[in-house]
Amino acid sequence: MPTTIITGASSGLGAEMTRQIAARGWDHGLCARRTDRLEELREEIVAAHPGRRVEVRALDFTDDDAVFEVFLAFLDDFGTIDRVVVNAGLGKGAPLGTGRHDANRQTAMVNFVAALAQMEAAMEIFRAQKRGHLVVISSVTAMRGMRKTITTYAGTKAGVASLAEGIRHEMLGEPDLDIRVSTIYPGYIRSEMNERVSHTPFMVDTEPGVRAIVAAIEKGSASARVPTWPWLPMGTALRHAPLGIVRKLM
Ligand SMILES: NC(=O)c1ccc[n+]([C@@H]2O[C@H](COP(=O)([O-])OP(=O)(O)OC[C@H]3O[C@@H](n4cnc5c(N)ncnc54)[C@H](OP(=O)(O)O)[C@@H]3O)[C@@H](O)[C@H]2O)c1
Repeated sequence: MPTTIITGASSGLGAEMTRQIAARGWDHGLCARRTDRLEELREEIVAAHPGRRVEVRALDFTDDDAVFEVFLAFLDDFGTIDRVVVNAGLGKGAPLGTGRHDANRQTAMVNFVAALAQMEAAMEIFRAQKRGHLVVISSVTAMRGMRKTITTYAGTKAGVASLAEGIRHEMLGEPDLDIRVSTIYPGYIRSEMNERVSHTPFMVDTEPGVRAIVAAIEKGSASARVPTWPWLPMGTALRHAPLGIVRKLM
C-alpha cells in the first residue's frame, strides 16, 4: 500500500485529508500533539477500511529534533514513505508593533521554521529512496502581504511556498530523482483555525474543501489554489491588483 505522513492530523484539514486519502487506499503515519484525537481518527479509519494501517505519534513541531526522529520512525514502520503532507499550522497573530510579538513568533515558528524541518526530514527520506511526493499546505493569503492579524501568518505561508518552489526548481536538474513537489493554496475552509475569525470570505465546509485539496494532491499539481472557484481567479487578482483593491477583497 502507498503510505503518506500527514502532519497536524488531529483536526481540521489534516484529519479530513486522512479520511479521504485512506478511502483511496493509502496507509498513514499521523502526528500532532493531541494523540487522543489521532487515536480516535485511527479507530475511525480502521473501522471504515479494515486492513488500512495507521500509525500515530505525538509530535510538537516546536522541537526540531523530534520532527526528524518521528519521520524516521514512520519510515521504520512502513519501509517506504511515498508522500509527506506538511500541513500542521497555527493561525495566531496580531498587527506588528502592538505588543504581541509572542503570538506572531509562535506562528512563525510553527508555520515556517517547523515546516522547514518537516521538508528537510521528508527530503532526506525521498533523496535516499530516489522518489517521493512532498505536499506543502500554504494558503491564498500567501499571494500578497496581508494586514493586521494575518500579516505574519501570510508571510509564513509565502515563505513555505517559496521553499517548496525552490525544491521543485532543484529537482528539475535531478533527472535521477523522481521527487514531485506540490504547493496547495487553500482558500477559507471550515476548521478549528478559523472558527472564531469574523472575516472569512467564500468559506466552504471542511469535507468539500478538502475534496478539492485531495484532488489537486492526487493530480500531483505543482501548484493549486483550491477550491478552484473562486480562488483561482481571486488568487490572480490578489497577486497582481494594487493594494487598495486587495484591501477590498481580503
Ligand atoms: N482552514 C483554512 O481555511 C485554511 C486555509 C488555508 C490554509 N490552511 C492551512 O491548513 C493547515 C491546517 O489548518 P486547519 O485549518 O486544519 O487548522 P486546525 O484545525 O487548527 O489544525 C491545525 C493542526 O496543526 C497542528 N499543530 C498546530 N501547532 C502544532 C505544534 N506546535 N505541534 C504539532 N502540531 C501542531 C494541530 O495539532 P495539535 O494541536 O493536536 O498539535 C492541528 O492538527 C494549516 O497549515 C493552515 O495554515 C487552512
